[in-house]
Amino acid sequence: AMNIVHLISKKRDGEELADFEIGALIDAYVKGDVPDYQMAAWAMAVYLRGMNVAEIAALTEHMLHSGATFKWPAGEAPKVDKHSTGGIGDKVSLPLAPLLACCDLQVPMISGRGLGATGGTLDKLEAIPGFRTNLSTAEMQAVTRRVGCVISGATADLVPADRKLYALRDVTGTVPSIPLITASIMSKKLAEGLDALVLDVKWGSGAFMKTRELAHALARSMVDTGRRMHVPTTAIITDMNQPLGRLAGNAVEVNESIDALEGRGPADLMAVTLELGAELLVLTKRESSLADAMQRLQRAIDSGAGLEKFREMVVAQGGDLDAPRPVAPASEVASPRAGYVAALDTEALGRVIIELAADYTPLHTA
Ligand code: URA
Repeated sequence: AMNIVHLISKKRDGEELADFEIGALIDAYVKGDVPDYQMAAWAMAVYLRGMNVAEIAALTEHMLHSGATFKWPAGEAPKVDKHSTGGIGDKVSLPLAPLLACCDLQVPMISGRGLGATGGTLDKLEAIPGFRTNLSTAEMQAVTRRVGCVISGATADLVPADRKLYALRDVTGTVPSIPLITASIMSKKLAEGLDALVLDVKWGSGAFMKTRELAHALARSMVDTGRRMHVPTTAIITDMNQPLGRLAGNAVEVNESIDALEGRGPADLMAVTLELGAELLVLTKRESSLADAMQRLQRAIDSGAGLEKFREMVVAQGGDLDAPRPVAPASEVASPRAGYVAALDTEALGRVIIELAADYTPLHTA
């Protein structure tokens, strides 16, 4: 049997772990052969000592293969996805997935719940009455191939190593570690069997990464890992010092996503959506330049095809886009004096939205 204490000590002393050592550790942890206290000590050693690209890729690979992965028949449209590190008002996945599905790509998007002050894509979609975010692995693959896009939660059989390790990190102060974050995110995304991946790494007062430098380091780590695992990967670094778009909150973000698909979205939301989509069209060689790719996405908006595709996805997942969504009554808050807003505590704004939702019983609908 493997000596777990040796692996913990090795990382504690700043040494590099071999691929087979990382594989054996993850395997034993998922099986229940390594207790949480040893895994927690190991995670803290990684937090303090870090990992090189080879170790991060090995960790990602072994986590990814701890469970089922999506399998796709050859000869169909390339499978692509986008991951965002999250921010207030970031509803980009909602318009982006159907737009990509209109451009000869397929999007099997595993998405998550809110984290800290940021809303989750699944929570937003559940503001659509009837919308199911708990599709099985088989259902997700079927909807991807039939409609072109799907957005649903991680199923029990996908990446069990991350579910277990993330819960442990959450209670041991080992979440904010770039190697552990990289492996957590990339193992889930690469379990989708992707041909290309784009990352939106946000920085600022409403982001997980508070500085541009930290966002850049995380982006570098995730891009290196994706490429090392032979999945073309790029990242864009975007500003989260104010909310994305003009609306934040679950139901209103669905509304703004529909505005975006109708060509009336706010400029910042449209720019991030088109940039991310264009990266994927170029990575999969569907377009040769980002400018051409953006025009193609814009045409999918202008023709109404993107909105139609969104509606198709909603129906495939049991939702009714015409049913009223629970939107809180609006009221204006006037500034006591003239001036302009110089800076926002975006994270505080996110927390206010979460509290408002907790207090609010939907009586009004719009
Ligand atoms: N999101 C994830 O999925 N994993 C992390 O480790 C951090 C954020």
